[in-house]
Amino acid sequence: MHFTTLLTSTLALTMSVSAAPTPVPATPENTRYVQLRLYSDADCGQDGNLGELGVYGDYVNKCNAFGDYTVESVRFEAAINNCTVSVYTDDACQAGAQGVALDTCLSSSTQYGSYQVFCSQL
Ligand SMILES: *[C@@H]1O[C@H](CO)[C@@H](O)[C@H](O)[C@H]1NC(C)=O
Repeated sequence: MHFTTLLTSTLALTMSVSAAPTPVPATPENTRYVQLRLYSDADCGQDGNLGELGVYGDYVNKCNAFGDYTVESVRFEAAINNCTVSVYTDDACQAGAQGVALDTCLSSSTQYGSYQVFCSQL
């Protein structure tokens, strides 16, 4: 998963319209389909902000674990192509599936262990 993008604030960077001389072709691997923000506390409070998680094409339509991060709430910040997000309480996308709606915070008293982004068009 792309935890290298965690703890950075690349939203402005991805929005930038710098005129690169040789544009990189858009491929699923370099396309950010979904942006999540992970929190170590409930209710997506700023104190628990772990950073954003950009989900690129090679992580779409498969199960991804949150790994060593303690994730108690997840905000679904952005998506393209109507991609959807489900979050699970185990680390293998098997238990406690819950959908997260765009622009909302999913939070509960349990810890989340994995997530899956579904995109019909990829
Ligand atoms: C997203 O959903 C809307 C409404 O259902 C639809 O009109 C649009 O074509 C969809 N876009 C993609 C890329 O699937």
